Amino acid sequence: MMNQKLKAIASLIDKKDIVLDTCCDHAYLAIYLKKNKLCKDVFASDINIHALEQAKKNILASGLIIPTYLSDGFLDITNESINTVVIAGVGASTVLHILDGAPKRISKFIISSNNHQEELRKELYKRELYIQKEIIVFEKGKCYVILLVTKQKLKENKLSLKYGKSNNKEYFEYLLEKEKDILKKIPKNKIYMRFKCYLNIKELKYIIKRM
Ligand SMILES: C[S@@+](CC[C@H](N)C(=O)[O-])C[C@H]1O[C@@H](n2cnc3c(N)ncnc32)[C@H](O)[C@@H]1O
Repeated sequence: MMNQKLKAIASLIDKKDIVLDTCCDHAYLAIYLKKNKLCKDVFASDINIHALEQAKKNILASGLIIPTYLSDGFLDITNESINTVVIAGVGASTVLHILDGAPKRISKFIISSNNHQEELRKELYKRELYIQKEIIVFEKGKCYVILLVTKQKLKENKLSLKYGKSNNKEYFEYLLEKEKDILKKIPKNKIYMRFKCYLNIKELKYIIKRM
């Protein structure tokens, strides 16, 4: 079923995009994009045969035509028309694995990692992939970070790589509360770990104050 996270991802798709949803699971995003004519074309792929079988059933039931691929990232995908790639609902290491296998001509990615947001931003930057926009979605007690990433060069600073550029105060307050909880759990003798945590709290308070 389409949820707020998938709708936020869809909001970053343009009419001219030819989209591959690489971790399509049940193909809800692809069906939504095609049904609402939000892109030029859409394809769906997944590494898991059971997920893909369900995707095919859902596509059939929708009455739409959406080609699917069983593939680990881009490994078994030769379609050269794709210009936009969605990688969502997997961990940062899988995101990077899929990105690293993507054809060089692809210049637009929409990414939502389940974890390690800071490390992911830094790895993207190293690969000369730049975050143009960051959307935060809170849904059912979870926080999702959605990145619009292209090759259009942008300068980043230490804070934007660390905490992102969403402009979402609720997100920074959420990060601040997480840091406070972490601090409570760090033993008093772990001075360096406590120092790093204090620093994060100070930075987050600074960002929130400026908003
Ligand atoms: C939790 S679902 C995410 C569904 C949807 N993209 C979302 O964000 O809600 C994760 C899907 O990613 C697929 N997946 C994991 N690693 C993958 C890979 N290397 N290549 C393609 N699909 C992968 C899994 O099989 C699973 O169906």
